[in-house]
Amino acid sequence: MPGRIADVRLAEKGRLSFEWATARMPILGKIVSENKHSRPLAGMRLGFCLHVTKETSVLAMSAKALGAEVALCSANPLSAKNDIAAYLYSHGIRVFAWRGETRKDYQQCIDSVVNLKPEIVTDDGGDLHVACHKVGREQILGGTEETTSGVKRLLGLQSAGKLAYPVIAVNNARTKHLFDNRYGTGQSTFDGILRATSVLIAGKQIVVCGYGGVGKGVAARARGMGASVAVTEVDPVRALEAKMDGFSIARLADAAANGDIFITCTGQSGVIRKEHFVKMKDGAILANAGHFDVEIDAAYLYSSCKRPEEVRQGVERFSVKDKKLYLLSKGRVANLVLAEGNPPEVMDLSFANQLLCILHTAKNHGKMDAKVHEVPREIDDRVASHALAAMGVEIDRLTLEQKRYRNSSLS
Ligand SMILES: NC(=O)c1ccc[n+]([C@@H]2O[C@H](COP(=O)([O-])OP(=O)(O)OC[C@H]3O[C@@H](n4cnc5c(N)ncnc54)[C@H](O)[C@@H]3O)[C@@H](O)[C@H]2O)c1
Repeated sequence: MPGRIADVRLAEKGRLSFEWATARMPILGKIVSENKHSRPLAGMRLGFCLHVTKETSVLAMSAKALGAEVALCSANPLSAKNDIAAYLYSHGIRVFAWRGETRKDYQQCIDSVVNLKPEIVTDDGGDLHVACHKVGREQILGGTEETTSGVKRLLGLQSAGKLAYPVIAVNNARTKHLFDNRYGTGQSTFDGILRATSVLIAGKQIVVCGYGGVGKGVAARARGMGASVAVTEVDPVRALEAKMDGFSIARLADAAANGDIFITCTGQSGVIRKEHFVKMKDGAILANAGHFDVEIDAAYLYSSCKRPEEVRQGVERFSVKDKKLYLLSKGRVANLVLAEGNPPEVMDLSFANQLLCILHTAKNHGKMDAKVHEVPREIDDRVASHALAAMGVEIDRLTLEQKRYRNSSLS
């Protein structure tokens, strides 16, 4: 079977992680049990470019249980878990991923998935979609996109008139970005920072760059652990929101001198740069939670200090002027490189959206234009209802009277 992984002997360890995640991802389990008899993905080729984590293993095995042939590469050169890759490969998933890929390996793994001619393309960040646009893609019926940065790239392709197939922006589902980006990444970013550095958060000054879903989650968790939090923003409405949520707002140029830990959450490039590094205090820690490794100008740090010392795994020390700065995970996404990514409970919501959108595309692609589509409302509501049911939570329903009142006030 085609594939390239680090070591297939790790499959047994991967199985335990797969089972641990499966037990915490009941929505995917429910979708599989509802559909497994009809096998709606029978014989369909799916191409996945996702972080190769235990949660992704549950999605991949769910799609396989519905009949799909799945090929998987990693959405980041440093995030793949080798045991999960081994488990999936030994269970018939065509995996092209290992931890520590070079940039060239990373692209080759993506190209390997493209070469298997996927009919539905599921991506996290847009690299697989972009690769699919560079070659013949006649067989592609549609795709999905997991994250904010990927959706932005696809909207760019769409406005240039180059988007070749319909793509559902899974990130935009309320049951995705309101939970994964905020609660998931908020928690797991600290999981990564703490595993790497083991520092106390209470009493620290933390600077959070960007107050979208990810920034809100990171800022809230930082406050919850006793840190003082300053938020930097470029969007006045988001800055106002952060202010009214009780955070201090500052320009990064001013916050640079006070921060103990800086966390970028913007999806934008060159957010923390030389002019900020030089103002930082000795010992400042720099972490990125955004998708790409462009938010902290790591290139400047590497060029100014030829041999940074790796003082702990994933923590490099740089000298800038007379001060020491610590860059985590080479400026790559900290929760996935230093920890295990978002927890299974929240990825259950995201990946339930993914699987339902794949099923939707398999069924409806003929009626879908080549543009970026929102997640159908009924999918979003279904995922939330399944999640509440799995938690044993019941909610009210509108009475007939209330429905009449709603309709009359709308007219
Ligand atoms: N690590 C993860 O597991 C994970 C999960 C979800 C999303 N993401 C990624 O995190 C990033 C942010 O996602 P989001 O959903 O919060 O995006 P978002 O677009 O909702 O929010 C980003 C915010 O950053 C602000 N911003 C942009 N440039 C800035 C700058 N120079 N300084 C300060 N603020 C700036 C924007 O105004 C915006 O409010 C994206 O790259 C996304 O793909 C990562």
